[in-house]
Amino acid sequence: MQKEQKSWYKNAVFYEVSTRAYYDSNGDGIGDIQGLTQKLDYIQHLGVDCIWLLPIFPSPLIDDGYDISDYYNIHPDLGTIDDFKELVRETHRRGMRIIADLVINHTSDQCAWFKEAQANPRSPYHDYYVWSNTDQRYKDARIIFVDSETSNWAWSEDAQKYYWHRFYACQPDLNFDNPAVREEMKAVMRFWLDMGIDGFRADAVPYLIEREGTTCENLPETHAFLKELRKLIDDEYPGCILLAEANQWPQDLRQYLADGDEFHMAFQFPLMPRIYKALAKGDCSPIIDIMKMTPQIPENCQWCTFLRNHDELTLEMVTEEDRQFLWNFYAPIPRMRQNLGIRRRLAPLMDGNCQKVLLLNAILFSLPGTPIIYYGDEIGMGDNIYLEDRDGVRTPMQWDSSRNAGFSSAVEEKMYLPVIKSEQFTYSRINVASQQQDPHSLFNTIRKMLAIRKQNPLMAGGAVEFIENAQVPALLFLKRCDEKNILFALHNLSEQAIPVDLRAHIRDGQPLLDLMNEKTFQGCTVTLPPYAFIWLKVL
Ligand code: GLC
Ligand code: CA
Repeated sequence: MQKEQKSWYKNAVFYEVSTRAYYDSNGDGIGDIQGLTQKLDYIQHLGVDCIWLLPIFPSPLIDDGYDISDYYNIHPDLGTIDDFKELVRETHRRGMRIIADLVINHTSDQCAWFKEAQANPRSPYHDYYVWSNTDQRYKDARIIFVDSETSNWAWSEDAQKYYWHRFYACQPDLNFDNPAVREEMKAVMRFWLDMGIDGFRADAVPYLIEREGTTCENLPETHAFLKELRKLIDDEYPGCILLAEANQWPQDLRQYLADGDEFHMAFQFPLMPRIYKALAKGDCSPIIDIMKMTPQIPENCQWCTFLRNHDELTLEMVTEEDRQFLWNFYAPIPRMRQNLGIRRRLAPLMDGNCQKVLLLNAILFSLPGTPIIYYGDEIGMGDNIYLEDRDGVRTPMQWDSSRNAGFSSAVEEKMYLPVIKSEQFTYSRINVASQQQDPHSLFNTIRKMLAIRKQNPLMAGGAVEFIENAQVPALLFLKRCDEKNILFALHNLSEQAIPVDLRAHIRDGQPLLDLMNEKTFQGCTVTLPPYAFIWLKVL
């Protein structure tokens, strides 16, 4: 793999995969690393440049693997270190890259470090965690899992003290004031980077350090440590990347890119809910407003944009009013809501309307950044809100219409989660095999959109201009350009057709290429059907 091509992430397509959910190679009902390796051709065919692998480490799986009990191993259900090395090799052989999850804020309470820490206050592991004799410290830190936790402190019977946790009580936070913890996490990074991976998606980075009188988020000490991790990458693993999961407001989020010396990338959290709001209201201003509020980023950085991921669709970074609106619109049934978000997949959020699914993807792909696709959303997979926690959006990948969606040969009872069988989204209708055969399927259309994006680098990195028309709020009209090319991306967020007059933007008689239809035309108006998009390249 060409590690020298240092800015590969600036114009790439990422794909988020749960190994457990992807493909079961040995028929035990659980997807595994060998299974994922067998499906790499499919991922490559979609047009993916980099795979982000959800946690694959030993874990009691209370938080689906984000509760790690051994940082230097693979969960036995998923395979072995050798399987992992083969996965990395095979990914690289196809010209793709792969990053892993780096969960540094907390461990599982089943981690040997925590067990030792609780059992023996004189053990060096005791100081790996954050202890207190009262549960009254750091009162200004919010609770994240509001549905299940009432405090960020939990009582340890063994230690006879409280320990700090920002997520589930079974996920004690590590103490980043302790140099030994810092060194341990660097060792973890080296351990996996030495196996050839191309970097990490770093989990929950705002919460590393606690200080009295603060929200315990985004602290300067936290940034200082994250810069050390970046230095490790630059010094020892050039070409590898760090991608930040920091669910924060634009100004705070921007800090994680610092002066180009902290993260290479950060998820564009503020944008995501506003895309949904714009569609719901038939008004593009939420998108334009947040883009204008989003600070410039250093040359060597890039946003990672997304519509959905493995978590609830978070509404943490919107106003209370917007949250209520989005909940009412997209999560009318209480069971659809979770914490401060919505536990639904993309296609069900759009009520199975492919046109709208494509429109949202088109918006994502025509804005600056590197988009990430959540496994299954490329075929419009459904969800199951009656499963626990966020499991409803983590069900088995639907490969074909055979039993268990072609995901596993196990008996149904052994499946790690049931496949989607609801009338609207049943796997017998929504699956990879049928969509690959149909040139107009969601899969093939998204594939084509990604290919166009690749051929037009200005879509990822070019300048963006919003052409606003107060009379037509439902029209999201973007002009993207670099030194050589100009592209117009037009999106109709309403159920009425919109005629668009391009005269002010092109010379008379100047030909335009409709990239999706591969047709050239010379007219100066186009009509956008309801919920449609058109990408036009100025020739
Ligand atoms: C991140 C993960 C989420 C997990 C949490 C705690 O937000 O995306 O799935 O529950 O961190 O590790
Ligand atoms: Ca298996």
